[in-house]
Amino acid sequence: MRALVTGVAGFLGSTLAEALRGSGFEVLGVDALTPNYDPAVKRANLAGLLADPGFRFVETDLRGADLRPLLDGVTHVAHLAALPGVRSSWGESFRDYAEHNVVATQRLLEAARGRALVKVAVASSSSVYGAARHAPTGEDEPRRPISPYGVTKLATEALVHAYRAEQGVPAVALRYFTVYGPRQRPDMGFHRFFEAGRHGKPVTIYGDGGQTRDFTFVDDAVSATVASLTRETREFAYNVGGGHRVALHEVLDRIEGLVGRRIERRHVEPQHGDPRDTSADTTLARRDLGYEPSTTLERGLSRQWEWQRNI
Ligand code: NAD
Ligand code: UGA
Repeated sequence: MRALVTGVAGFLGSTLAEALRGSGFEVLGVDALTPNYDPAVKRANLAGLLADPGFRFVETDLRGADLRPLLDGVTHVAHLAALPGVRSSWGESFRDYAEHNVVATQRLLEAARGRALVKVAVASSSSVYGAARHAPTGEDEPRRPISPYGVTKLATEALVHAYRAEQGVPAVALRYFTVYGPRQRPDMGFHRFFEAGRHGKPVTIYGDGGQTRDFTFVDDAVSATVASLTRETREFAYNVGGGHRVALHEVLDRIEGLVGRRIERRHVEPQHGDPRDTSADTTLARRDLGYEPSTTLERGLSRQWEWQRNI
């Protein structure tokens, strides 16, 4: 079994590649080391993998490279490369989102046509739901994104559907819900909050802090991804949520407990594109992927703090 992991130097991709190695896959990792955050951080994410003879890294950009040779001998694909981040997707930056998230995905799926692949797992996002009407939100809820980023993830999913239905590519979309834990991207909430706690700086809270997220620990998101590659998947898309919807101010209270000091909270206006609440109905993932998110918020925050206090 040989897996191609795109976005392998990122938060989720590097953690997934390590898990796939642990499950007996050879891994070919691809990443363009894009500057959405410091590429040195991405190189550090790869450090352990690069010492492993069962892992090979190719630095290349899915937007332009010939992708066919990368698929030679590959049995499974996990496509995680993308430009993430909800709030930064407005304005001129949308062009980059469209290229990294839509064009790159189409090029990869095109290269996958006619190959004897077992499965292609593609990263989608809770942001496809926008302001969902029902909580918890099932996969059939209308997909009406409220951010340009969410629009690109909806287009990613539409490509998965088209290549699956018409070209026989065995692709499946995973709708991850706000993932946290070791290696979390520096632009994400928990990472910023721990940094603020560490350095005695204030945090900026978008809105009143009462917004909720179905925060998902990275190892749980990764185990769902491995299962989507190795198990039969009857559905076209699966929610991958943490199983506990928590308000932001509660997270901050817990982070204060871990770092051992109060963190000044500076409230500003809610940001355009941020849903107020997210909540995953994970019935389908439980049924088909054997998904059982097992990390409590308390444990997951401790894991992120153990990692972040030492970087
Ligand atoms: P990340 O930025 O840490 O990782 C993405 C990686 O993809 C980066 O290392 C980047 O260099 C690479 N990349 C981007 N464009 C590329 C291209 N054109 N060619 C090659 N490599 C490219 O982000 P992450 O948080 O690990 O997210 C991974 C995936 O999961 C993304 O698709 C993201 O949209 C999705 N997702 C993440 C979350 C979350 O909470 N982190 C939630 C929902 C969905
Ligand atoms: C995260 C990822 O960044 C997206 O790539 C992903 O697609 C999305 O999850 C998803 O679930 O689909 P987000 O939920 O915005 O997006 O994650 P965080 O950046 O960790 O923000 C969590 C909450 O904290 C949001 O309500 C946000 O407004 C708030 N926040 C974040 C602040 O109040 N202040 C900050 O400095 C950062």
